[in-house]
Amino acid sequence: MYNKESGIKLNEKSRALLKEIATGITSNAAKTINDLREVINYSDWRYYVKDDPALADQEYDRLFEWLKKLEEQHPESVTPDSPTQRVAKGLTKEFPTVDHLVPMLSLDNSYNAEDLSEWDRRCREFVGDRDIEYCIEPKFDGAGISLIYENDLLTRGATRGDGVQGEDITMNLKQIRSIPLSAKFSSLSVHQIEIRGEVLINKNKFKQFNDQRLAENLPPLANPRNAASGSLRMIDPKEVGKRGLEAFLYHMSYLDFQEGKREPEAFETHYGTLNALSQLGFRTPVDIMKVVKGIDKVIDYCKTFENKRDELPYEIDGLVVKVNEYALQDKMGMTTHHPRWAMAYKFKPRQASSKLRKVEFQVGRTGTITPVAKIDPVPLSGVTVSSISMFNEDVIREKDIRVGDTILVERAGDVIPYIVKPLTDLRNGSEKEIVFPKHCPVCGDKLVKEPGESAWRCVNINCEAQVVERLVHFGSKDAMDIRNLGEANVKRFYELKLLRDIPGIYQLDFEKISQLEGFGKKSVDNLRTAIENSKQQPLHRLIFALGIRFVGETTAKTLAKAFHDLMELKNITEEKLLSLEDIGPKVAGAILQFFSNEDNIRMLEKLRSLGINMKNAGNKETASGTLSGLTFLFTGTLPSLKRSEAETLVESKGGKIAGSVSSKLNYLIAGEEAGSKLEKAKRINTVKILNEEEFLQMIKTE
Ligand code: IVH
Repeated sequence: MYNKESGIKLNEKSRALLKEIATGITSNAAKTINDLREVINYSDWRYYVKDDPALADQEYDRLFEWLKKLEEQHPESVTPDSPTQRVAKGLTKEFPTVDHLVPMLSLDNSYNAEDLSEWDRRCREFVGDRDIEYCIEPKFDGAGISLIYENDLLTRGATRGDGVQGEDITMNLKQIRSIPLSAKFSSLSVHQIEIRGEVLINKNKFKQFNDQRLAENLPPLANPRNAASGSLRMIDPKEVGKRGLEAFLYHMSYLDFQEGKREPEAFETHYGTLNALSQLGFRTPVDIMKVVKGIDKVIDYCKTFENKRDELPYEIDGLVVKVNEYALQDKMGMTTHHPRWAMAYKFKPRQASSKLRKVEFQVGRTGTITPVAKIDPVPLSGVTVSSISMFNEDVIREKDIRVGDTILVERAGDVIPYIVKPLTDLRNGSEKEIVFPKHCPVCGDKLVKEPGESAWRCVNINCEAQVVERLVHFGSKDAMDIRNLGEANVKRFYELKLLRDIPGIYQLDFEKISQLEGFGKKSVDNLRTAIENSKQQPLHRLIFALGIRFVGETTAKTLAKAFHDLMELKNITEEKLLSLEDIGPKVAGAILQFFSNEDNIRMLEKLRSLGINMKNAGNKETASGTLSGLTFLFTGTLPSLKRSEAETLVESKGGKIAGSVSSKLNYLIAGEEAGSKLEKAKRINTVKILNEEEFLQMIKTE
């Protein structure tokens, strides 16, 4: 069982193990191997299930390496549930089709209070007229999975497939470290069990993943669900491991007890089962689920929860209400499509429809031509959408999008809006095919498309649009953050020949600018200060700002961490680049190409002579940031910062975002309409509660 007490004992164990590792001598290999596994499994649980790390990364790595080494020396001691067995060897050739022990059914859907009341009425017909106890939990928007454990060992993991048969993806699921390779089901007399759940990718990870795709000129994945299900079927398990997937288990579909043993109480209710699974080390919704009596309370809860969906770190598309007692569930049974004892309550879809009026073709900083749909403005989850990127020609052809179409637009949370499909039934024949240009709409050069790529590109690096976009990117918020150097100013300065290249930003003639119409003393001063301040930006921002192909924010951070000085990249080898996290041959090639170009090196030397920081020292945003070791949680609506911005701010300074309010939390930042989290935090003395202003003040001075 996993709990705090075992944590304390394991802390002692890990200290002893680290000491032993320091001496390099193991007297009792069998015992050390056992202890190492116990400590690593416990640490995985704290990190991946509880969001509350127990060991420093380096300590964890040392323990893991030692275990690998001892197992190599004592191959007979390797067990299938050793943490080392998560390490995949080679690629998956195929995912064999497997039968589920019990069909994986779907859920019936409800959309309002009436639907829920009607369902409750039907439930009471089965079980007698009384208030039924219901569990309410999130409806996770990921990819369904099924796990089988036999004699405590994970023996098979599969996708949902068609519900009757799925695909065996055991090795990929082993990469998700919140899924235990073994669990003490035998302590509950269980011989075999099949459990179901959902694999998800959290919103931050999803954003990081899409930023990288955008940097590689790939269309971003539409939503976290697609990212999760795509990740599960990748042929390289190592890649699956890098995606940061999480698994929530929410249903037990099959249970077989050891011979002669009786069913323990834990398995009499849905809540009891999830609680038992939690104690065995699984991630379940037990901490966030609600158990209530009677449908009225269910309805109240469903209504209030919808406003809180954005507070969760992952996407949910509704709630699931389940009859708690298994005895009642059994009375109700199933249809061929869904169980009668469960009901999904779906939130309003974050979709809208609008008319596509025209398509513009934008030239990006690397010359990529992006078709942008201009639509009649339409409100969608908090913003008004009027422009939607369609990424490339293939997307337009695959979806058969035409000018004049009524289109369905979707946007979940912070996800960029995208066109789901045209509503073809509404066509009247006047819709026009979208004609892709053959020449660059800005410089007129012929466009090219490289084999295997879906994007058309203008390869004239002096194309005005590209130069302007490169400059705009350099100064943009996530790059050097030069607030007053937006697109309009860059274009204007470029046309007036006041600004032609990146070093030129630091040599602007403010005298001339102050004579331009619309530029007062204050705006010139602001611009000058913003440019001056940008010289001390951390190295990763400069790397990202350079606009090297395929180098997004994540890769830029990886590079900045690995090198002390940007110029070290001048002599870098491909081998060294490939040894870094998340860098593959394509990205490495682009980096090598950038740093072998003499014009680029001259530009960097110029930037250095102009005083731009190129070193990692003095970088305030590295892992040892000012907030390192502290945990934060945001609740309610903040007056100026978006939730994602506030979280990024914390992470960029080394702080961590907590999953829930607990005694481990250091700061709760509460905005308007902060609800239960604020109440809970008030009850815990050690949690400091701040408003946005106090938070901003604190991170400034920390
Ligand atoms: S219970 C026999 N609980 O939604 C009933 N399903 O639209 C088993 N889902 O196929 C399902 N969150 O993949 C259940 N808390 C939750 C869920 C959940 C998401 C998925 C599941 C199901 C689909 C139906």
